[in-house]
Amino acid sequence: MKLWGGRFRKETDDLVNDFNSSIQFDCRLYREDIQGSLAHAAMLADCGIISREDEAAIRAGLEGILADIEAGKVEFTADNEDIHMNVEALLTERIGAAGKRLHTARSRNDQVAVDLRLYLRREIGEIVDQILDLQEAILAKAKEHQNTVMPGYTHLQRAQPISFAQHLLAYGAMLRRDVGRLLDCRARMNECPLGSGALAGTTYPIDRWETAKALGFTAPMDNSLDGVSDRDYAIELLSALSVLMMHLSRFSEEIILWCSWEFKFIELDDAYSTGSSIMPQKKNPDVAELVRGKTGRVYGHLMGLLTTMKGLPLAYNKDMQEDKEPVFDAVDTVKLCLPVFTGMIATMKVLPENMRRAASAGFINATDCADYLTKKGLPFRDAYTAVGNLVYYCTERGKGLEDLSLEELRQISPLFDGDVYEALGLEACMGQRKSWGGPAPEETARQIQSLEAFIRDSREASEA
Ligand code: ARG
Repeated sequence: MKLWGGRFRKETDDLVNDFNSSIQFDCRLYREDIQGSLAHAAMLADCGIISREDEAAIRAGLEGILADIEAGKVEFTADNEDIHMNVEALLTERIGAAGKRLHTARSRNDQVAVDLRLYLRREIGEIVDQILDLQEAILAKAKEHQNTVMPGYTHLQRAQPISFAQHLLAYGAMLRRDVGRLLDCRARMNECPLGSGALAGTTYPIDRWETAKALGFTAPMDNSLDGVSDRDYAIELLSALSVLMMHLSRFSEEIILWCSWEFKFIELDDAYSTGSSIMPQKKNPDVAELVRGKTGRVYGHLMGLLTTMKGLPLAYNKDMQEDKEPVFDAVDTVKLCLPVFTGMIATMKVLPENMRRAASAGFINATDCADYLTKKGLPFRDAYTAVGNLVYYCTERGKGLEDLSLEELRQISPLFDGDVYEALGLEACMGQRKSWGGPAPEETARQIQSLEAFIRDSREASEA
């Protein structure tokens, strides 16, 4: 008979039994479920709601169940629907009457809410650590390439020269905000729904602060209906993970471009590339493509859960059982992507000559040429027009700005002097962009230090 079988006179239809059960996926919450039950039982005893003996029996029973699950000795059943009832049924089977007292002043509604929060809280910590690993790989490459000039693009057209370090550090900065979003989400998630009961709290003299503290939450949630109804923490996590994946996807797209023959800015390590079953020459960036592809999957889970929750009346509705698979899959996907992406970045070979060659064509120094005239006194807008004319002149003749003679330059503006050639050189164009956040080596050095400090502080915080 079901734990809730009292008011029923018929067995559940087999189809309904399977349809209703969530044990196939919520079994992964077993640790959190037991952790929550241990805290609940201790609180019940402290508040005089169950006896010390019962609490001791429950504790021993739950610890035994935990050990057995971890040793692979427990078989969950769909008859017991979900992880909460599976554990409770096992407990009662093992310790008898005391097991039946565990669910006093509790509902599966607050139980599942606390389990999922505990679970996601831990997963967030692991994801943050993986992001920090990726940032370290980015830092290591950035340090090697502060003087590696590459074209910076807008509209995927060569725009202004930057360094490869600068480009990488842009991702370092994005990932830093991703860490921030995840930690913010974790902080907001870190309130305890346990004790909300089914929806309306309880008449027992429970102590919600005790369970909240025992489980490492900052406080009990303020409203029992909210405690069992809300899934915004899961949606917020999916949203933070979607943004993170969007960053990884953009980075992936660039990796894919960079290792094409058209760019050849980098070469991926053999260990991080794949071949073709028909074309012997192929070396494909499958890792980057898969990360880009899996991004869609994570976005989909965000949309899915938002849609599941849309229009649900308070408080608990069974629809909400549909929260777990998308969140689990998003977490799994991100945790799968991050380390392999980190490995790909750490092992890729950078080809500075090719980056430099690409930066040497396409009038990437045109802004610098206009800035040169502006610094000599011409208003910027006039300088801009003058250089526009020069670019036209050069295109007609298949030349770069730096290939023009001083006479040719002076036909456009008498302000040109011999020092223009240095000003148009790639080193100057990149190296003189010393404005805060710019690509000049001293600036990327500052960005590197700042990112290093961020990683160090974040690691310390996550260990504390
Ligand atoms: N398995 C359920 C879920 O994941 C647990 C809560 C069930 N509560 C209920 N009243 N049926 O949402």
